Amino acid sequence: MESLVRVFALSFLYVTAKSSHFVSHDFEGNNTLNDTNNGIVKTIVVDQTGNGHFKTIQPAIDSVPSGNNHWIRIFIRRGIYNEKVIIPKDKQKILMEAHKASEAIIQYNHAGESIASATFRLLAEFFVAINITFKNTYNKEKPKTLYRDIKIAPAIVIAADKAAFFGCQFVSLQDTVGDLVGRHYFQQCHITGIIDFIWGNGQSLYQSCMINVLGVTTSTETEKETVDGGAIAGFITAQGRESEQDTSGFVFNGCSIVGVGKAFLGRAYRGYSRVLFCNTNMADVIVPQGWDAWSYPGLV
Ligand SMILES: *[C@@H]1O[C@H](CO)[C@@H](O)[C@H](O)[C@H]1NC(C)=O
Ligand SMILES: *[C@@H]1O[C@H](CO)[C@@H](O)[C@H](O)[C@H]1NC(C)=O
Ligand SMILES: *[C@@H]1O[C@H](CO)[C@@H](O)[C@H](O)[C@H]1NC(C)=O
Repeated sequence: MESLVRVFALSFLYVTAKSSHFVSHDFEGNNTLNDTNNGIVKTIVVDQTGNGHFKTIQPAIDSVPSGNNHWIRIFIRRGIYNEKVIIPKDKQKILMEAHKASEAIIQYNHAGESIASATFRLLAEFFVAINITFKNTYNKEKPKTLYRDIKIAPAIVIAADKAAFFGCQFVSLQDTVGDLVGRHYFQQCHITGIIDFIWGNGQSLYQSCMINVLGVTTSTETEKETVDGGAIAGFITAQGRESEQDTSGFVFNGCSIVGVGKAFLGRAYRGYSRVLFCNTNMADVIVPQGWDAWSYPGLV
């Protein structure tokens, strides 16, 4: 229980970003950054039509100096950006922002690997994204997908401490959000998937998010009439906490789970897997069993 309290106390990177003002509070709640000394010092505009500093996102990130210690905003103008993006470890304090998630989409088509296939890979601490869609287009989004056609295809992999996402969308079917290492905060985000689509060892708070469960079936179109259309349940989370000392865990607060598919709340990816759903509307998407022990029966 003590470490559960710590999940709440620490997994909080509370950031407010309003036009040109940017104030961040540390975990105790006192101001650590403010406009005078640590505000956004620069805005880089990415615009596909050529009216910004860059036409694609990766060169904008590459232009951030190594060891960066002042917030740099990368503003993404509307468009579908077909590129794999990586924020290396030495490019800290990047704020990526767009006006509307539905109009600023970063997508790529690559599947098979839980980390290397990710459209967006975050390796740097202090990252904020606002109103951006991260998508892996390998698995086609449809109401019901054939189980054997689905592959691991992450939209994002977050492998650094202190990242926050506001109004973002994450779209794929399997392993959509790799919430791997560190403390992460998600607010008013939409996450779509079928299998293990929020997974990893992160210590994260999902506040007021929408979880969209798509359907999965074992039957092909031609076999459809036979066994209940072959519909099977997916898994929303696969949390990877490894020991009693491990402070990782996912907390979903004030969220809603919607969708045309059925799913377990999660399956235990490691022996001390920890996930909490609080104040969350589950419609009738969640199967009555709730959780699945996967390879760790007796420990969940
Ligand atoms: C912030 O709070 C911590 C813990 O209460 C304290 O040690 C630190 O001095 C505070 N920082 C500022 C700038 O007030
Ligand atoms: C902002 O930082 C400056 C310089 O460190 C400090 O003098 C000022 O009190 C800070 N303002 C707030 C609101 O924390
Ligand atoms: C991001 O989206 C929110 C909600 O739609 C909106 O209030 C906010 O102004 C948007 N941010 C920008 C930079 O347009």
